[in-house]
Amino acid sequence: ADPDPLQDFCVADLNAAPISVNGFPCKPITNVTSDDFFFDGLIKEGNTTNTFGVNVTAGDVRSFPGLNTLGISMNRVDFAPGGVNPPHSHPRATETGVVIKGKLLVGFVTTGNVLFSKVVTTGQVFVIPRGLVHFQLNVGKGKALTITAFNSQLPGASVLPFALFASNPSIPDEVLTKGFQIDDDVVKSIRSKFGVQA
Ligand code: GLV
Ligand code: MN
Repeated sequence: ADPDPLQDFCVADLNAAPISVNGFPCKPITNVTSDDFFFDGLIKEGNTTNTFGVNVTAGDVRSFPGLNTLGISMNRVDFAPGGVNPPHSHPRATETGVVIKGKLLVGFVTTGNVLFSKVVTTGQVFVIPRGLVHFQLNVGKGKALTITAFNSQLPGASVLPFALFASNPSIPDEVLTKGFQIDDDVVKSIRSKFGVQA
């Protein structure tokens, strides 16, 4: 989904001028080395000791500057038993993923509110159309691991629980009580789970 490159590569200079155009400026070609095109950041298992029992390690242009202008990136997603990657969407990319370990219920919801979902296991692949709300739930006995890939160097993620209940500043209570047809105390209770003061 990203624009096409206008040169072989443009290894991001993440610390260049405080200006970004559409992506990052290129580091001088004489400073580019082989290491710019390799990335070790997805080797390690992420820490899943958190509310959701999930850890997303992003391998986007911010951590892997060699991806700049190339329109592609990957994540590593680790799940504790029972862990969930909560409903979220990527504004700039379609996602595909392969299950490396365990068993995941993967689902996405169309703009017409139809859910497509399936339980997938080692070696199986899924695709999440660009921008649609999706999730993965670990339904196996042990840990699970998937590697996901995106047709953007920086797909972005709008994680619904955080976007709706833990934004800064907060969405007015009235929007949430009316929007979800719930009482004030439900909004407060959800907010408190994400460390937001009442
Ligand atoms: C999984 O949904 C991911 O965004 O990596
Ligand atoms: Mn995703």
